[in-house]
Amino acid sequence: MDLSLSNPTAPTPDCADDGVWLACIDCEWTGAPFDEIRYRCPDCESLLEVRYDDHPTLAEFDADSGHGVWRYADALPVDSGVSIEEGATPLYEVPTIEEEVGVAELRVKHEGMNPTGSFKDRGMTVGVRVAERLGVDRLACASTGNTSAALACYGARAGTQVLVLLPAGKVAAGKVAQASLHGARILEVDGNFDDCLDVVADLADRGEAYLLNSLNPFRLEGQKTIGLEMLEGFRDQTGDLPDRIVLPVGNAGNTAALYKAFRELVAAGELAVDEVPTLTGVQAEGAAPMVEAVEEDRETVQRWADVETRATAIRIGNPVNAPKALPAIRETGGTAVAVSDDEITDAQRALARDGVGVEPASAASVAGLRKLRDAGVVGSDERVVCLTTGHLLKDPDAAAAAGADPEPVPADTAGVLDHLS
Ligand code: F0G
Repeated sequence: MDLSLSNPTAPTPDCADDGVWLACIDCEWTGAPFDEIRYRCPDCESLLEVRYDDHPTLAEFDADSGHGVWRYADALPVDSGVSIEEGATPLYEVPTIEEEVGVAELRVKHEGMNPTGSFKDRGMTVGVRVAERLGVDRLACASTGNTSAALACYGARAGTQVLVLLPAGKVAAGKVAQASLHGARILEVDGNFDDCLDVVADLADRGEAYLLNSLNPFRLEGQKTIGLEMLEGFRDQTGDLPDRIVLPVGNAGNTAALYKAFRELVAAGELAVDEVPTLTGVQAEGAAPMVEAVEEDRETVQRWADVETRATAIRIGNPVNAPKALPAIRETGGTAVAVSDDEITDAQRALARDGVGVEPASAASVAGLRKLRDAGVVGSDERVVCLTTGHLLKDPDAAAAAGADPEPVPADTAGVLDHLS
């Protein structure tokens, strides 16, 4: 395994294109990035990642060079994307939760403030541009909802056909509506997300479509920018770097992407290894194969055939990026924790009280922080960032169920006053 914080930068192979190449995370294979479509290593089937001959420091990301994700173009495989101004999301103070949890500093990075309402936009702006470069005519993904909404939107913008496979009856209403209005063909699969991914990966291997799930290494490059923004924003607000990042885990793409961002900052000389924030993953109790693997100190996850949670975005039993994310958690001294659906809803309400509206999966990060702080795993002196991944309106049914009920009143002031008293 080549995914170590202390690894020196690899020498640039002959196949590199403008200082960018693909490498297997497990064996010595390297390949040209834009000549052929590849999702896995041709020699050993393991995951691929994008590598670079050069790694900028944070100061080298020039404010004039682009907006949001594209301000970090020098750390990305292409110079520009199919873009609708993704990234540059807010890093909020959450005073009530900070006080209640009892940590030195707490911020919430709200990825729900992206154009389609989730972090997926950061990966799609890169991935859909790479797809154009590869000359594909159909894009596809399996999704618990947000990936399909983002792909439908960015595919529409690029003028490319989009096919999305969704687990029937298990995708929140806002997300299906987005995929639908942006013009994707929506296939409702009689199975869960992992079944959808098996089928769409097969379709992609047969050349039927270009796969834009987080198995695609280019997508994770865009998602790296979450980590870069977190460090810059936290330092601007507090003068320090965060000690810990707590994030919801489904396919573990963000866990892998944040770790890659930090490894590249170590290679750039920006961060010392011991300054890298501790990555802490949170899953729902009903879908927690990563937590199981971390608790049992295993190198691989075992697929859960049956998964269930109110946080439908992370209703995933086979996290495909586990081979990248398990080293991320281990090497940064992190951990993973499972939370109940009620703990998730309670955290969703707490975030809402601090003015931050998120979907259930996002609130898992805060629920996990509460639990780990109660258990003494997170210390009172820690500086923490929680990642919230999707907007409240993604899942209006969950929000309405967690919130207050509307009160029927008559259509006259006297009747309303009467009701209020
Ligand atoms: N939070 C939200 C709101 C998500 O939509 C997802 C994943 C995650 C967290 C998990 O992120 O996979 O990087 O660990 N949603 C995918 C989808 C699976 O299809 O929209 P991860």
